[in-house]
Amino acid sequence: MSVVNLDDVEAAARERLPTAAADYIAGGAEDEVTLRANRQAFEALALRPRVLVDVSTRSLETAVLGQAMPMPVLIAPTGFQRLAHPDGELATARAAGAEGVCLVLSTFSTASLEEVAAAGGPRWFQLYVHRDRGLTADLVRRAEAAGYSALVLTVDLPVLGRRERDLRNGFSLPTDLRLGNFALATSAGLHGVEQGSALAAFHEGLRDPAFTWEDVDWLRSVSRLPLILKGVLRADDARRGVDHGAAGIIVSNHGGRQLDGAASGIGALPEVVEAVGGEVEVLVDGGVRRGVDVVRALAVGARAVLIGRPVLWGLAWDGEAGVRRVLRMLRDELDTAMALVGAPTVRAITRDLLA
Ligand code: GLV
Repeated sequence: MSVVNLDDVEAAARERLPTAAADYIAGGAEDEVTLRANRQAFEALALRPRVLVDVSTRSLETAVLGQAMPMPVLIAPTGFQRLAHPDGELATARAAGAEGVCLVLSTFSTASLEEVAAAGGPRWFQLYVHRDRGLTADLVRRAEAAGYSALVLTVDLPVLGRRERDLRNGFSLPTDLRLGNFALATSAGLHGVEQGSALAAFHEGLRDPAFTWEDVDWLRSVSRLPLILKGVLRADDARRGVDHGAAGIIVSNHGGRQLDGAASGIGALPEVVEAVGGEVEVLVDGGVRRGVDVVRALAVGARAVLIGRPVLWGLAWDGEAGVRRVLRMLRDELDTAMALVGAPTVRAITRDLLA
């Protein structure tokens, strides 16, 4: 079978992955209502293409937080990438670097943030607030030293959502995988518990379910890097984030992996854009599978989108080359979609394109 779109990449990747690993990547929380809503909400957004516009030359270039980007797409933070491919995050970083795409590295990477920095191009670092604030501050310091240019604080994971595929599979990481950013002992918890998902037990031990807006202030006090809040779905939270000094907001429901029943990212985007759009940049993730989805998100008011699972499928399918193929497919589709809606530049993707 030839692979021509991101769904094909997923199908090809699944042939290479054990079921439990594929389920961990693909799965959402509980009934996966939100997971499906992310796709459905994109598909439901009809466009009103402009005709007879000169689209003979097109540019996909943009800037996010003042950083030039070849297209309005970033790689979302996803953990444990060596689960998908032995080269894990290093392959992703090389592919991203080659395409000039910004990689948001997960705290739970299976290579260290320093190794990833050495492998790649533009990069931001994703953080959780851990029970041990010293540990969090140390990660921030290391990320700054290794040239990460922004911090992405995940705010939608006070506890881990119930991923029932992982519970059924008794999901745990293979014993040869360890966390690149932590001391060896920290990885031990990932390799199996008596019942249920090892990942859930692991998260429980490490992260702080008591973190609040005060911790956002604390985090800002320990770093000069721009801080982006990921996992906001409401106008009032977005506003509050801006008031607490956030430089950007990522509208996200964590790929449908946290609160099942939460609004889709693209569905929540308008209220967030309306609340803060002029002041800080708003990004969105969850369900982006087509170039035309990028057009839809930008038309609603996002500055850029992030893709998570497609990158993992590309990685599982063909390592670094697979991730490059994913980025190029999306870029080519976006280029076509921009031509067909009559938007030769990213700037020309405006709200009137939506029905
Ligand atoms: C972790 O953040 C996950 O979604 O598995």
